[in-house]
Amino acid sequence: MNFTDRPRRLRRDGIREMVSETDVQASDLIAPVFVDATTDVRRPIETMPGHERVPVEEAVARVEEVLETGVEAVMLFGIPESKDERGTRAWADDGVVQEATRRVTSETDAYVITDVCLCEYTSHGHCGVLEDGASEGDVRLTVRNDETLDLLGKIATSHAEAGADMVAPSGMMDGMVGAIRESLDGAGYPDVPVMSYAAKYESAFYGPFRDAADGAPAFGDRRHYQMDPANRREALREVRLDVEQGADVLMVKPALPYLDIVRDLREEFDHPVAAYNVSGEYAMLHAASEKGWLDLEEVALESLVSIKRAGADLILTYFAEDVAEEL
Ligand code: PBG
Repeated sequence: MNFTDRPRRLRRDGIREMVSETDVQASDLIAPVFVDATTDVRRPIETMPGHERVPVEEAVARVEEVLETGVEAVMLFGIPESKDERGTRAWADDGVVQEATRRVTSETDAYVITDVCLCEYTSHGHCGVLEDGASEGDVRLTVRNDETLDLLGKIATSHAEAGADMVAPSGMMDGMVGAIRESLDGAGYPDVPVMSYAAKYESAFYGPFRDAADGAPAFGDRRHYQMDPANRREALREVRLDVEQGADVLMVKPALPYLDIVRDLREEFDHPVAAYNVSGEYAMLHAASEKGWLDLEEVALESLVSIKRAGADLILTYFAEDVAEEL
């Protein structure tokens, strides 16, 4: 036996940490926060233990809890008091996200990112304006892309007016980043960055979120606009388009089942890469740990380390507060 290269030498305590290649820091994490205009008390989200929908009046308190853990950024999602065909409450000056953003940005130091989408605001739950007849169940019909772009521009601008630090379009409409950039620039917000949900897959891992945000489509699915999980090259094509339209941060969603895509983006582009560790990824670890099958703290941290190792700079995660406290 004569071998000189023994990797185990560097795995001992003391040196192990020093040669660690990947570090998760609280400043890499973004905590999703749900603000709900239909309630005046905090309501736990059953499918996502530890998370709640909070009324606008509680938004500042909720964000302060996040900040206390060391996490500096939040992603605001809104549940409006009413929904309609076009999702008009999404760009209302007194809408739920606009009100919450105004309060949180003026009363806390949090970096506020807002989700720009229509699915929580439309009565049918789709991410845009429907083609005529789509609601009667004709599966060939889908969301009108270009008409939706105008609305996304309005939503993003209304968020910027309320003080949002960054906007994050998640609807997977073609041209959405360019439309939002143009609208923001035209309204005098050239410095508000766009984090694009650039490669967003049509994923069953969003299940718990759709409960949390009341955003399940009333009929049909999102296959007409979200990406097929089978496709890898298409992700690069999607992302390239968003880069051309001025996206500042590129997101992959979900995270763990799509780490190859995170790695592809890291290698192909110089922009910061974000990954969204989605509701289903959170819920499944919780469910297994409730049964005593997994150690939640350990699997949560291991998940985030893996996402960073794959190449993500930023991670949106429901574990943000728990992991930041552990660090
Ligand atoms: C809305 C949106 C969704 C998520 C974030 N923004 C839901 C969807 O596309 O159905 C999912 C987040 C999660 O599962 O944690 N467009």
